[in-house]
Amino acid sequence: MKKEIDWGNLGFQYMQTDSYVSSVFDGNSWSELEVSSDPQMSIHIAAACLHYGQSCFEGLKAFSRKDGSVALFRPQENALRMIESANRIAMVAPPVELFIEAVKKVVQLNSDWVPPYGEGASFYIRPLLIGTDTRIGIRPSQNYRLIVLGMPVGPYYKDGFFPVKGCVQDSFDRAAPKGVGNVKVAGNYAAGMLGDIQSKSKGYSITLYLDSATHRYIDEFGTSNFLAITHDNKLVVPKSESILPSITNKSIQKIAEEFGLTVECRPIEFEQLADFSEVGACGTAAVITPVYSITRGDQVFTFGEEGKAGKVLEKLYKEIQGIQFGEIEDRHGWMVEV
Ligand code: PLP
Ligand code: COI
Repeated sequence: MKKEIDWGNLGFQYMQTDSYVSSVFDGNSWSELEVSSDPQMSIHIAAACLHYGQSCFEGLKAFSRKDGSVALFRPQENALRMIESANRIAMVAPPVELFIEAVKKVVQLNSDWVPPYGEGASFYIRPLLIGTDTRIGIRPSQNYRLIVLGMPVGPYYKDGFFPVKGCVQDSFDRAAPKGVGNVKVAGNYAAGMLGDIQSKSKGYSITLYLDSATHRYIDEFGTSNFLAITHDNKLVVPKSESILPSITNKSIQKIAEEFGLTVECRPIEFEQLADFSEVGACGTAAVITPVYSITRGDQVFTFGEEGKAGKVLEKLYKEIQGIQFGEIEDRHGWMVEV
């Protein structure tokens, strides 16, 4: 039986569900998945993940669909990205099959927590990989733990598909050139927290980071990719080696091409914000969140009408959500049934 939850008013917050799954790597192989319900775990006080940041994660969603099925959005892509993240910080990643098995299992075990179709909510899955060896000298762990948990969520920004205001963070960077901005390691999010607090204290809900070498080019938002629509209807996304390759972004580009839009992936100078009629943030949690304005000191760029999402981003948003909720044909084979 589904839990009694106000599904239509969920935010993006942790919620304890029935069970999570885990697997351990002992230096040779991964164990069978273990199911647990106690969210507390025991870990060594000198574990590599705690001291030296050997920790990376993923985020993906399962959707209850119109035909009654429950399906994941492109889980293979998340599995592959976890391998990239793990490799970059000298960790051992779970094979794709184990990752997908664990993700499916956590959805099955918590089926009462998967929001019903029609509520606009979804089940967010968080695979986490940590190095667990006892370390005081710096050296990669040999033992790892994969933990996959999940919970029902609503929109990341409380108003959902409604334009937010953003600002540029010039005091701190979150990703160095040839650093770890292109992978999903835990430390990136700690690096963005202070900037985020500053933005929020000034009334901006989203923080835009520029390339850390020159602060001339747009990189991405703290937890989502940047995308924009030009006045002549092109979709433009930044080309940078320091941004996370977003699965949502990749999918939106594909849809945009099908809609006949030209897609350009190129370095975007900050001043080129003037060329855009619509700006958005995209990611698993943010889906597409329209951005009304971007402020940098005294300079403010605005996009479209305040309080109103632009037409092109709205069309792309409806298409991707339509595919996810099974209202529009999944012509790319993106959805994987649980
Ligand atoms: N950029 C950052 C820094 C993120 O944390 C995320 C979220 O995962 C994204 C972009 C969007 O990626 P995806 O669409 O794969 O969720
Ligand atoms: C996601 O979109 O899955 C994210 O990772 C964003 C954030 C909650 C870390």
